Amino acid sequence: MPRAPRYAWRQVGAVLLVGAALACGDTPTEPAAGDSVRELLRLPAEFATPAIPEYNPLTPQKIALGRRLFYDPRLSGNQTQTCASCHEQRLAFTDSQATPAGSTGHVLRRNSQGLANTAYFSTLTWGNNVLLELEDQIKVPLLSDNPIELGVLDGNRAEVLQRFDDDSTYRAMFKAAFPNSPPGATINQVIFALASFTRTLISSDSPYDRYYRGDPLALTAQQVRGLKLFNSERLECFHCHSGVNLSTSYRDAGTTAGTVTYPFFNNGLYNIGGDGSYPTGNQGLYELTLNPADRGRFRPQGLRNVAVTAPYMHDGSLATLRDVIRHYARGGRLVDSGPYAGDGSLSPLKSGLVRGFDITEAEIDDVVAFLESLTDEKFLHDPRFADPFAASSPSPSTPR
Ligand code: HEC
Ligand code: HEC
Repeated sequence: MPRAPRYAWRQVGAVLLVGAALACGDTPTEPAAGDSVRELLRLPAEFATPAIPEYNPLTPQKIALGRRLFYDPRLSGNQTQTCASCHEQRLAFTDSQATPAGSTGHVLRRNSQGLANTAYFSTLTWGNNVLLELEDQIKVPLLSDNPIELGVLDGNRAEVLQRFDDDSTYRAMFKAAFPNSPPGATINQVIFALASFTRTLISSDSPYDRYYRGDPLALTAQQVRGLKLFNSERLECFHCHSGVNLSTSYRDAGTTAGTVTYPFFNNGLYNIGGDGSYPTGNQGLYELTLNPADRGRFRPQGLRNVAVTAPYMHDGSLATLRDVIRHYARGGRLVDSGPYAGDGSLSPLKSGLVRGFDITEAEIDDVVAFLESLTDEKFLHDPRFADPFAASSPSPSTPR
């Protein structure tokens, strides 16, 4: 079991630095089995080693192949779409739409999620408690027929894979990534490579991270005020948004089956008909469990780079960060007319932590400023994550 560094970023509230630099000299010393993983992911000391399934060890060859596939339209049935169509690097791997359309025009119900640090979530996607590994999640955009995203279906799967077998660059890359497999790309190899690349999308260099690492000047005075508000019992944000991704959905290589948690909450976005319902077909965890109490329950979304990932929430129905803070301040959203009419603040299914609070306009500015400190410019422009087909893109080996 790879050992996490001693002061790994545990599930504490968003960190507030008091005075001196943090735990200087408390550097991890013992070499750990996870070291090569940590190097490949370029993890800073305070990030624990993420859990990686034993059946898909991380290698540079799989990462390079996964990056190419992520940006290649040949990976969609009709060759019109890539993973990056909905996950653009400059937007922290979101797409600025409320809900995107797949390669055949099918509009999805959910907002495209950012892909920073997905390796650390205990469950994947907005409202699903059984998708636990990237290898399983990636099958959805790749293979799903309802709705169709990339649209690799039973009828065209052989043809899609043939596109890679016909390309000498890909032949060499598949061979390098899976040296013990017979020639001929397989869908599992595609998925393993994409999962490996996705794991490398680590965001760890925002002003907030630098503040956490001990630079008291990394945040402005306004951002520090916003951080204090975020961590306050008045606003309650940190109860659901804490730790490395500012989400209580968290696990790493050291998390055991007995300690892992799968948090899901209803935060009062809808209350259709006064019984706590959300729009039909988009009721979060309920769609899987069919337990009426799970209506409107979603994973606390990670907040890394949140200033560039608008619009917000699982259906992209809040346009700005101010709207989000006003929503929480009201203790739920009022939809006053139309098919979704209802007062979210009165929802019987809403979490007790979304109670509403008084906040001034200046304090809203402070919280927004704090959320902006989570933007990691290096992540948004890191050439290792960029489109390898773009003319200007440096080769994957270019040092940072
Ligand atoms: C048509 C748009 C679209 C395409 C194409 C697409 N995605 Fe997504 N992605 C989404 C949406 C929407 C979600 C949220 C899904 C949900 O909650 O049901 C998502 C969620 C994810 C997540 C989960 C993130 C988290 O925080 O749990 C990962 C990982 C992911 N996508 C990776 C990929 C990869 C890799 C590809 C290419 C094989 C891809 N996506 C293609 C729209 C897309
Ligand atoms: C009870 C748990 C809980 C509390 C408290 C909470 N959140 Fe959330 N947060 C969530 C959940 C769950 C979602 C996703 C809900 C959805 O999509 O319907 C979310 C979504 C968000 C989003 C949207 C992220 C995105 O990418 O779309 C932001 C921003 C956010 N919360 C900020 C805050 C702030 C600021 C506070 C404090 C004022 C706060 N949250 C308090 C659980 C919580």
